[in-house]
Amino acid sequence: MAAKNVTMFAGKGGVGKTTCAGATALHYALNGEKTLVISTDPTPSLSHIFEVQDKKKPVKVLENLYLAELGIAEVKQMWDKKFGREVYEVFSSFVAVNYTDFVDFMSSILPGLSDEFMVDYIKELSKSGEYRQIVWDTAPLGQTLGLLKTPGMLREHLKPAPRIYSQLKLGSETKRPVLEILKGWEKLSNTDMEFLKKDVAFALVTIPEALAVEQLDGILEEMVNDGFQAGQLIVNNVIRETGDSPFLKEKASQQGEYLEHIKSKYSQMQIVVIPLFPHEIKGEPGLKQVAQNLYNSK
Ligand SMILES: Nc1ncnc2c1ncn2[C@@H]1O[C@H](COP(=O)(O)OP(=O)(O)O)[C@@H](O)[C@H]1O
Ligand SMILES: [Mg+2]
Repeated sequence: MAAKNVTMFAGKGGVGKTTCAGATALHYALNGEKTLVISTDPTPSLSHIFEVQDKKKPVKVLENLYLAELGIAEVKQMWDKKFGREVYEVFSSFVAVNYTDFVDFMSSILPGLSDEFMVDYIKELSKSGEYRQIVWDTAPLGQTLGLLKTPGMLREHLKPAPRIYSQLKLGSETKRPVLEILKGWEKLSNTDMEFLKKDVAFALVTIPEALAVEQLDGILEEMVNDGFQAGQLIVNNVIRETGDSPFLKEKASQQGEYLEHIKSKYSQMQIVVIPLFPHEIKGEPGLKQVAQNLYNSK
Protein backbone atom coordinates (compact mmCIF):
# COMPACT_ATOMS: atom_id res chain seq x y z
CA MET A 1 0.00 0.00 0.00
CA ALA A 2 1.26 3.47 -0.84
CA ALA A 3 2.28 5.60 2.12
CA LYS A 4 -0.37 8.01 3.34
CA ASN A 5 0.50 11.55 2.39
CA VAL A 6 -1.93 13.32 4.72
CA THR A 7 -1.39 13.40 8.47
CA MET A 8 -4.18 14.70 10.63
CA PHE A 9 -3.37 15.96 14.14
CA ALA A 10 -6.26 15.65 16.55
CA GLY A 11 -6.74 16.11 20.28
CA LYS A 12 -8.28 18.18 23.03
CA GLY A 13 -7.86 21.97 22.91
CA GLY A 14 -4.49 23.27 24.06
CA VAL A 15 -2.61 19.96 24.16
CA GLY A 16 -0.21 20.89 21.37
CA LYS A 17 -1.84 19.87 18.08
CA THR A 18 -0.74 22.96 16.21
CA THR A 19 2.74 22.74 17.71
CA CYS A 20 3.12 19.10 16.63
CA ALA A 21 1.59 19.74 13.21
CA GLY A 22 3.95 22.66 12.68
CA ALA A 23 6.97 20.64 13.80
CA THR A 24 5.98 17.75 11.54
CA ALA A 25 5.54 20.01 8.53
CA LEU A 26 8.91 21.62 9.19
CA HIS A 27 10.49 18.19 9.48
CA TYR A 28 9.16 17.12 6.08
CA ALA A 29 10.10 20.41 4.43
CA LEU A 30 13.65 20.26 5.76
CA ASN A 31 13.87 16.75 4.31
CA GLY A 32 13.16 18.25 0.92
CA GLU A 33 9.51 17.22 0.63
CA LYS A 34 7.11 19.87 -0.63
CA THR A 35 4.71 20.26 2.27
CA LEU A 36 1.45 22.05 2.97
CA VAL A 37 0.44 22.61 6.56
CA ILE A 38 -3.27 23.41 6.65
CA SER A 39 -5.62 24.23 9.50
CA THR A 40 -9.37 23.66 9.69
CA ASP A 41 -9.61 25.12 13.18
CA PRO A 42 -12.07 28.06 13.13
CA THR A 43 -9.68 29.82 15.51
CA PRO A 44 -6.41 28.87 13.86
CA SER A 45 -2.97 29.57 15.30
CA LEU A 46 -0.73 28.15 12.59
CA SER A 47 0.31 31.49 11.13
CA HIS A 48 1.01 32.71 14.65
CA ILE A 49 3.29 29.80 15.44
CA PHE A 50 5.14 30.21 12.12
CA GLU A 51 5.18 33.97 12.63
CA VAL A 52 3.73 34.77 9.21
CA GLN A 53 1.66 37.88 8.60
CA ASP A 54 0.89 37.34 4.94
CA LYS A 55 -2.78 36.49 4.41
CA LYS A 56 -2.14 34.78 1.08
CA LYS A 57 -3.46 31.21 0.84
CA PRO A 58 -1.32 29.26 0.70
CA VAL A 59 1.60 31.38 1.87
CA LYS A 60 5.17 30.18 1.38
CA VAL A 61 6.86 30.01 4.79
CA LEU A 62 10.21 28.69 3.66
CA GLU A 63 11.66 26.43 0.99
CA ASN A 64 9.23 23.50 0.48
CA LEU A 65 6.86 24.71 3.19
CA TYR A 66 3.45 26.26 2.52
CA LEU A 67 0.77 27.24 5.01
CA ALA A 68 -2.99 27.72 4.68
CA GLU A 69 -5.78 28.36 7.15
CA LEU A 70 -9.16 27.21 5.90
CA GLY A 71 -12.08 29.34 7.07
CA ILE A 72 -15.82 29.71 6.51
CA ALA A 73 -15.25 31.91 3.44
CA GLU A 74 -13.32 29.15 1.67
CA VAL A 75 -15.92 26.59 2.64
CA LYS A 76 -18.69 28.73 1.14
CA GLN A 77 -16.64 29.10 -2.02
CA MET A 78 -16.35 25.34 -2.21
CA TRP A 79 -20.10 25.02 -1.99
CA ASP A 80 -20.39 27.22 -5.08
CA LYS A 81 -17.64 25.40 -6.91
CA LYS A 82 -18.92 21.91 -6.14
CA PHE A 83 -22.63 22.20 -6.82
CA GLY A 84 -24.20 25.19 -5.16
CA ARG A 85 -25.46 26.98 -8.26
CA GLU A 86 -26.42 23.78 -9.96
CA VAL A 87 -28.63 22.64 -7.11
CA TYR A 88 -29.99 26.13 -6.62
CA GLU A 89 -31.06 26.45 -10.23
CA VAL A 90 -33.08 23.27 -10.01
CA PHE A 91 -34.74 24.20 -6.73
CA SER A 92 -35.41 27.80 -7.69
CA SER A 93 -37.35 26.56 -10.70
CA PHE A 94 -40.12 25.46 -8.37
CA VAL A 95 -39.49 27.30 -5.08
CA ALA A 96 -39.04 31.06 -4.80
CA VAL A 97 -35.94 31.42 -2.65
CA ASN A 98 -32.82 33.55 -2.94
CA TYR A 99 -29.41 31.95 -3.17
CA THR A 100 -28.04 32.89 0.27
CA ASP A 101 -31.17 31.67 2.06
CA PHE A 102 -31.03 28.52 0.00
CA VAL A 103 -27.40 27.78 0.98
CA ASP A 104 -28.21 28.45 4.64
CA PHE A 105 -31.23 26.17 4.38
CA MET A 106 -29.32 23.33 2.77
CA SER A 107 -26.53 23.67 5.33
CA SER A 108 -29.06 23.42 8.13
CA ILE A 109 -30.94 20.38 6.81
CA LEU A 110 -27.69 18.58 6.02
CA PRO A 111 -25.75 19.08 9.22
CA GLY A 112 -22.01 18.92 8.84
CA LEU A 113 -22.06 19.98 5.22
CA SER A 114 -19.23 22.42 5.85
CA ASP A 115 -17.24 19.61 7.51
CA GLU A 116 -17.85 17.54 4.42
CA PHE A 117 -16.44 20.30 2.27
CA MET A 118 -13.35 20.55 4.45
CA VAL A 119 -12.68 16.84 4.07
CA ASP A 120 -13.37 17.12 0.38
CA TYR A 121 -11.07 20.12 0.02
CA ILE A 122 -8.19 18.26 1.63
CA LYS A 123 -8.98 15.19 -0.46
CA GLU A 124 -8.73 17.22 -3.65
CA LEU A 125 -5.48 18.80 -2.51
CA SER A 126 -4.12 15.36 -1.78
CA LYS A 127 -5.20 13.93 -5.14
CA SER A 128 -3.84 16.91 -7.05
CA GLY A 129 -0.32 15.78 -6.21
CA GLU A 130 0.72 19.40 -5.69
CA TYR A 131 2.28 18.53 -2.34
CA ARG A 132 4.32 15.54 -1.27
CA GLN A 133 3.01 15.90 2.29
CA ILE A 134 -0.09 17.50 3.73
CA VAL A 135 -0.12 18.12 7.45
CA TRP A 136 -3.62 18.81 8.76
CA ASP A 137 -4.06 20.75 11.96
CA THR A 138 -7.60 20.38 13.31
CA ALA A 139 -9.98 22.02 15.75
CA PRO A 140 -10.46 20.56 19.26
CA LEU A 141 -11.86 17.04 19.48
CA GLY A 142 -15.61 17.57 19.35
CA GLN A 143 -15.41 19.31 16.00
CA THR A 144 -12.89 16.86 14.62
CA LEU A 145 -15.02 13.87 15.54
CA GLY A 146 -17.86 15.57 13.68
CA LEU A 147 -15.58 15.92 10.71
CA LEU A 148 -14.79 12.21 10.71
CA LYS A 149 -18.42 11.24 11.12
CA THR A 150 -19.85 13.59 8.51
CA PRO A 151 -19.36 11.55 5.33
CA GLY A 152 -21.11 8.54 6.84
CA MET A 153 -23.85 10.66 8.35
CA LEU A 154 -24.48 12.49 5.10
CA ARG A 155 -24.77 9.18 3.35
CA GLU A 156 -27.42 8.04 5.84
CA HIS A 157 -29.29 11.32 5.41
CA LEU A 158 -29.34 10.94 1.67
CA LYS A 159 -30.59 7.38 1.58
CA PRO A 160 -34.35 8.12 1.69
CA ALA A 161 -33.98 11.28 -0.41
CA PRO A 162 -34.40 9.76 -3.90
CA ARG A 163 -37.60 8.04 -2.79
CA ILE A 164 -39.00 11.27 -1.36
CA TYR A 165 -38.16 13.25 -4.48
CA SER A 166 -39.56 10.59 -6.76
CA GLN A 167 -42.91 11.06 -5.02
CA LEU A 168 -42.93 14.81 -5.44
CA LYS A 169 -45.34 16.04 -8.09
CA LEU A 170 -42.71 17.56 -10.30
CA GLY A 171 -42.21 17.44 -14.00
CA SER A 172 -39.72 14.78 -14.99
CA GLU A 173 -37.40 17.45 -16.43
CA THR A 174 -37.08 18.91 -12.90
CA LYS A 175 -37.01 15.58 -11.15
CA ARG A 176 -34.18 13.97 -13.06
CA PRO A 177 -31.51 16.62 -12.33
CA VAL A 178 -32.43 16.58 -8.62
CA LEU A 179 -32.03 12.83 -8.46
CA GLU A 180 -28.72 13.07 -10.27
CA ILE A 181 -27.49 15.71 -7.87
CA LEU A 182 -28.47 13.54 -4.90
CA LYS A 183 -26.58 10.65 -6.41
CA GLY A 184 -23.61 12.95 -6.87
CA TRP A 185 -23.70 13.86 -3.19
CA GLU A 186 -23.87 10.28 -2.14
CA LYS A 187 -20.85 9.52 -4.28
CA LEU A 188 -19.05 12.46 -2.74
CA SER A 189 -19.62 11.24 0.81
CA ASN A 190 -18.45 7.77 -0.17
CA THR A 191 -15.21 8.98 -1.73
CA ASP A 192 -14.57 11.31 1.19
CA MET A 193 -15.01 8.47 3.64
CA GLU A 194 -12.70 6.28 1.62
CA PHE A 195 -10.14 9.08 1.53
CA LEU A 196 -10.23 9.45 5.33
CA LYS A 197 -9.75 5.74 5.79
CA LYS A 198 -7.15 5.10 3.12
CA ASP A 199 -5.06 8.21 2.73
CA VAL A 200 -5.11 9.93 6.11
CA ALA A 201 -2.78 8.98 8.95
CA PHE A 202 -4.07 10.03 12.36
CA ALA A 203 -1.79 11.40 15.01
CA LEU A 204 -3.46 11.89 18.38
CA VAL A 205 -2.01 14.42 20.76
CA THR A 206 -2.60 14.38 24.49
CA ILE A 207 -1.02 15.51 27.75
CA PRO A 208 -0.63 13.45 30.93
CA GLU A 209 -3.60 14.95 32.78
CA ALA A 210 -6.94 13.50 33.84
CA LEU A 211 -9.29 15.23 31.41
CA ALA A 212 -6.99 14.93 28.39
CA VAL A 213 -6.47 11.22 29.00
CA GLU A 214 -10.19 10.65 29.52
CA GLN A 215 -10.94 12.38 26.21
CA LEU A 216 -8.20 10.38 24.52
CA ASP A 217 -9.77 7.12 25.69
CA GLY A 218 -13.10 8.38 24.36
CA ILE A 219 -11.89 9.40 20.94
CA LEU A 220 -9.86 6.23 20.41
CA GLU A 221 -12.91 4.16 21.20
CA GLU A 222 -15.06 6.15 18.79
CA MET A 223 -12.44 6.00 16.09
CA VAL A 224 -12.17 2.24 16.34
CA ASN A 225 -15.97 1.94 16.22
CA ASP A 226 -16.06 4.07 13.08
CA GLY A 227 -13.32 2.03 11.44
CA PHE A 228 -10.46 4.51 11.76
CA GLN A 229 -7.04 3.60 12.98
CA ALA A 230 -4.83 6.01 14.88
CA GLY A 231 -1.19 5.52 13.96
CA GLN A 232 0.71 7.72 16.32
CA LEU A 233 0.10 8.80 19.87
CA ILE A 234 1.93 11.88 21.11
CA VAL A 235 2.12 12.63 24.81
CA ASN A 236 3.11 16.27 25.16
CA ASN A 237 4.18 18.52 28.04
CA VAL A 238 5.92 15.78 29.99
CA ILE A 239 8.11 17.06 32.84
CA ARG A 240 11.56 15.56 32.51
CA GLU A 241 13.68 17.51 34.97
CA THR A 242 12.43 18.36 38.43
CA GLY A 243 15.67 19.51 40.08
CA ASP A 244 14.84 19.72 43.78
CA SER A 245 11.57 21.55 43.27
CA PRO A 246 8.82 19.89 45.37
CA PHE A 247 6.27 21.44 43.02
CA LEU A 248 7.78 19.88 39.92
CA LYS A 249 8.37 16.56 41.70
CA GLU A 250 4.72 16.36 42.69
CA LYS A 251 3.59 17.32 39.22
CA ALA A 252 5.94 14.82 37.56
CA SER A 253 4.77 11.99 39.78
CA GLN A 254 1.14 12.72 38.90
CA GLN A 255 2.05 12.79 35.22
CA GLY A 256 3.81 9.47 35.71
CA GLU A 257 0.55 7.75 36.61
CA TYR A 258 -1.20 8.97 33.49
CA LEU A 259 1.79 8.06 31.35
CA GLU A 260 1.69 4.53 32.72
CA HIS A 261 -2.02 4.30 31.97
CA ILE A 262 -1.44 5.44 28.39
CA LYS A 263 1.52 3.17 27.83
CA SER A 264 -0.17 0.06 29.13
CA LYS A 265 -3.54 0.69 27.52
CA TYR A 266 -2.14 1.59 24.10
CA SER A 267 0.94 -0.59 24.02
CA GLN A 268 0.21 -1.53 20.40
CA MET A 269 0.46 2.10 19.27
CA GLN A 270 3.52 4.08 18.47
CA ILE A 271 3.90 6.42 21.46
CA VAL A 272 6.14 9.48 21.43
CA VAL A 273 6.81 11.65 24.46
CA ILE A 274 7.60 15.36 24.15
CA PRO A 275 9.01 17.24 27.14
CA LEU A 276 7.47 20.37 28.57
CA PHE A 277 9.76 23.18 27.48
CA PRO A 278 10.34 26.17 29.75
CA HIS A 279 9.62 28.53 26.85
CA GLU A 280 6.81 29.10 24.39
CA ILE A 281 7.23 27.33 21.08
CA LYS A 282 7.27 29.73 18.19
CA GLY A 283 9.18 30.08 14.96
CA GLU A 284 11.56 27.72 13.26
CA PRO A 285 14.05 27.04 16.10
CA GLY A 286 11.31 26.13 18.59
CA LEU A 287 9.50 23.89 16.13
CA LYS A 288 12.77 22.23 15.18
CA GLN A 289 13.28 21.30 18.80
CA VAL A 290 9.85 19.63 18.89
CA ALA A 291 10.55 17.89 15.57
CA GLN A 292 13.76 16.45 17.02
CA ASN A 293 11.69 14.84 19.76
CA LEU A 294 9.06 13.61 17.34
CA TYR A 295 11.37 12.16 14.72
CA ASN A 296 14.71 11.67 16.45
CA SER A 297 16.12 13.99 13.84
CA LYS A 298 19.14 16.24 14.22
N1 LIG B 1 6.05 20.74 24.85
C1 LIG B 1 5.70 22.00 25.11
N2 LIG B 1 6.37 22.75 25.99
C2 LIG B 1 6.02 24.01 26.27
N3 LIG B 1 4.97 24.63 25.70
C3 LIG B 1 4.24 23.94 24.80
C4 LIG B 1 4.55 22.60 24.46
N4 LIG B 1 3.67 22.18 23.53
C5 LIG B 1 2.83 23.22 23.32
N5 LIG B 1 3.17 24.28 24.07
C6 LIG B 1 2.49 25.58 24.13
O1 LIG B 1 1.15 25.35 24.53
C7 LIG B 1 0.26 26.23 23.86
C8 LIG B 1 -0.82 25.41 23.15
O2 LIG B 1 -0.24 24.65 22.12
P1 LIG B 1 -0.98 24.44 20.72
O3 LIG B 1 -0.07 23.66 19.86
O4 LIG B 1 -1.47 25.73 20.19
O5 LIG B 1 -2.21 23.52 21.17
P2 LIG B 1 -3.54 23.11 20.36
O6 LIG B 1 -3.28 23.34 18.92
O7 LIG B 1 -3.75 21.67 20.70
O8 LIG B 1 -4.64 23.96 20.91
C9 LIG B 1 1.11 27.07 22.94
O9 LIG B 1 1.35 28.29 23.54
C10 LIG B 1 2.38 26.26 22.80
O10 LIG B 1 3.50 27.10 22.55
MG1 LIG C 1 -4.37 24.50 17.52
